[in-house]
Amino acid sequence: MEGKFFLLIWVILLLGQLHGYKSCIDKERKALLELKKYIISITEEEYSDYVLPTWIYDTESDCCCWEGVKCNRTSKRVTEIAFGALYLRESSRLNLSLLHPFEDVRNLNLSNYPWPISGTYYQLPISGTYYQFNGLFDDVEGFKSLGRLRNLEILDLSCNSFNNSIFPFLKFATSLRTLFMRDNNFNVPLPAEELRDLTNLEILVLSGNGFTGSIPVQGN
Ligand SMILES: *[C@@H]1O[C@H](CO)[C@@H](O)[C@H](O)[C@H]1NC(C)=O
Ligand SMILES: *[C@@H]1O[C@H](CO)[C@@H](O)[C@H](O)[C@H]1NC(C)=O
Ligand SMILES: *[C@@H]1O[C@H](CO)[C@@H](O)[C@H](O)[C@H]1NC(C)=O
Ligand SMILES: *[C@@H]1O[C@H](CO)[C@@H](O)[C@H](O)[C@H]1NC(C)=O
Repeated sequence: MEGKFFLLIWVILLLGQLHGYKSCIDKERKALLELKKYIISITEEEYSDYVLPTWIYDTESDCCCWEGVKCNRTSKRVTEIAFGALYLRESSRLNLSLLHPFEDVRNLNLSNYPWPISGTYYQLPISGTYYQFNGLFDDVEGFKSLGRLRNLEILDLSCNSFNNSIFPFLKFATSLRTLFMRDNNFNVPLPAEELRDLTNLEILVLSGNGFTGSIPVQGN
């Protein structure tokens, strides 16, 4: 009798755990799919089938296991998002509003090196013309947008075509500790004024932007 009782408890605990493992937060699963839909809309048509193929419309699928997504194991909230290689249309900008549902995101990786983030991506025949992100926008909250991501600590914007026009957005990402901006189109002088409020910033990487000599800064 006692044995059966403990077996029952064990089965209940196991089912609970399996259930917990399966479910990522529904709001965030939907938001990831919105993000994918948007990225497809700015992708060169011939590459659209290769956009985030593991992010699927299936309520049984745990979005915490999708490629480029990481969650906190306990809360199941999304803590990291990485898109990997994207093959965008000319003048593609990222709609930052689409990131607002991810209140716990710590690491946002928009770097766009033209190779897959891991082995499970399809092998891409890279033939056509494609571009990287060249701007950010938020038609609701404007420059303040990144300020909504209160836990954002690491932002990787490397290997895109961003220019100085994104600094007014970065200004509000005050929780940032690490900012990678390798291989973009930033030009000197850098608007240091815009980075002054990033008081938690410890690491700023700007290599590969074609600067030579010392980097003149504007402002104080
Ligand atoms: C994960 O979430 C739990 C519950 O919200 C929190 O207590 C914990 O600190 C988080 N873990 C990490 C590594 O952030
Ligand atoms: C972002 O992703 C790229 C691969 O696409 C990786 O090389 C890089 O280290 C990642 N950056 C961070 C900060 O994790
Ligand atoms: C950007 O995303 C927000 C939130 O989903 C949406 O309301 C807005 O219409 C989008 N803007 C564009 C131009 O896609
Ligand atoms: C910077 O990028 C924006 C697109 O986001 C573009 O409109 C603008 O002309 C660019 N500025 C320069 C100096 O290239």
